[in-house]
Amino acid sequence: MKTQAKLSIIVAAGLNNVIGKDGDMPWRLSADMVHFKRITAGKPVLMGRKTWQSLFVQPLPGRENLVLSRDVNLPAKGAEVFNDMDAMIAKGKALAGVDGEVMVIGGGVLYEAVLPLCDRVYFTRVNASPDGDTYFPELDPKKWRLVQQQPYPSGDKDDHAFVTQVFEKVG
Ligand SMILES: NC(=O)c1ccc[n+]([C@@H]2O[C@H](COP(=O)([O-])OP(=O)(O)OC[C@H]3O[C@@H](n4cnc5c(N)ncnc54)[C@H](OP(=O)(O)O)[C@@H]3O)[C@@H](O)[C@H]2O)c1
Repeated sequence: MKTQAKLSIIVAAGLNNVIGKDGDMPWRLSADMVHFKRITAGKPVLMGRKTWQSLFVQPLPGRENLVLSRDVNLPAKGAEVFNDMDAMIAKGKALAGVDGEVMVIGGGVLYEAVLPLCDRVYFTRVNASPDGDTYFPELDPKKWRLVQQQPYPSGDKDDHAFVTQVFEKVG
């Protein structure tokens, strides 16, 4: 049977589900950045306009960058801009190929919209409860099964310890 590319989220959230503050991440976690790079390498990355701007409008190298905005004239050198989420996901899946994986990398608006549609969540649970203005939705344990988990102690370049987890959609 012909399958489709998987649609996955990758996110780092505090114990209070905070993911962002003032357009930036509320922590520095070098080891989680290495994890992020490893998981997303070679895969299409899909993001909202605010997350694109948080990257200082530089595309993530070695990955196709797809950005969602209502602004058809958004400057996005090295990325492709979409005004329609379904069209962006369809393009991501086409780029990934049938056995590939499309990565939604944020932010809060995109995660909220994509969570009901996606197959897998790469979740970094950061051992902190920082102030923030952007949140990740609670994962319903009836809908999401934890299949993998690895703790990381706080290294020299990490503000906090964290645990990387993988959740698969049930059913
Ligand atoms: N901790 C993490 O893992 C993580 C990951 C990524 C980002 N973040 C943080 O999250 C924050 C940004 O998240 P956010 O929720 O504020 O913004 P966002 O999801 O990155 O982007 C929101 C923007 O996407 C566009 N958009 C959303 N839905 C759309 C639709 N249906 N049609 C067309 N355009 C649509 C709109 O752009 P226009 O306004 O241009 O129309 C909207 O303003 C930052 O603090 C960032 O650092 C954290």
